[in-house]
Amino acid sequence: MTEPLALALTKGRILADTLPLFESAGIVPLEDASTTRKLQVGTSQAGTSILLVRASDVPAYVEYGGADVGVTGKDVLLEHTGSGLYEPVDLGIGRCKLVLAGKPGAEKVGHRRLRVATKYPAVTADYFARRGQQVEIIKLYGSMELAPLVGMADVIVDITETGSTLRANGLVVIEEITDISSRLIVNKASMKMKHETIHALIDSIKSALPEKST
Ligand code: PRP
Repeated sequence: MTEPLALALTKGRILADTLPLFESAGIVPLEDASTTRKLQVGTSQAGTSILLVRASDVPAYVEYGGADVGVTGKDVLLEHTGSGLYEPVDLGIGRCKLVLAGKPGAEKVGHRRLRVATKYPAVTADYFARRGQQVEIIKLYGSMELAPLVGMADVIVDITETGSTLRANGLVVIEEITDISSRLIVNKASMKMKHETIHALIDSIKSALPEKST
């Protein structure tokens, strides 16, 4: 028996790559998820719905049971401190890198603390702690590249895909921190209670992935 599922997805760059993976499991939205103003969209599978949430909220929806399954970036998951999630599949889509970037030579600030602007304060704190370097972290919610330009920060920790935003703002990659891609995540209780349905979904998605990302 197929149990109804709630799927937390995000409008934006990766939705077009994500929907075909769910289609492979017979889950097709009943309206255009990329343009609708609805936040909950029905699907071809009775009772199964797509919840359209912010990327950074996907882990909370899945951890607290608002959704059974979600898709979000590894960057968001690294920043998320909860533990009520399984992360069974690297979808291999939305590939980008988390980097330390700044104007050339921006890291050399003498004896004062380096100022780092980021929307990933936990990942950034961990990265510099591993380097044994004390820094000042400024939490921003977007357009991090602006912070070094106006002298508010020396460097940024952000994701880069094509590199064009960094280039357009005269910034360079100082160090690559980690590779990022989108992940399928599953609520721990749902994994037990809806075991068969979720495993069938995982299997369908895995077989729909290009070989190198499974
Ligand atoms: C992300 C990221 C960079 C940009 C990098 O921002 O924060 O600004 O994409 O992509 P690129 O290397 O291909 O230029 P996003 O567009 O998601 O918006 P945000 O600033 O609101 O997070």
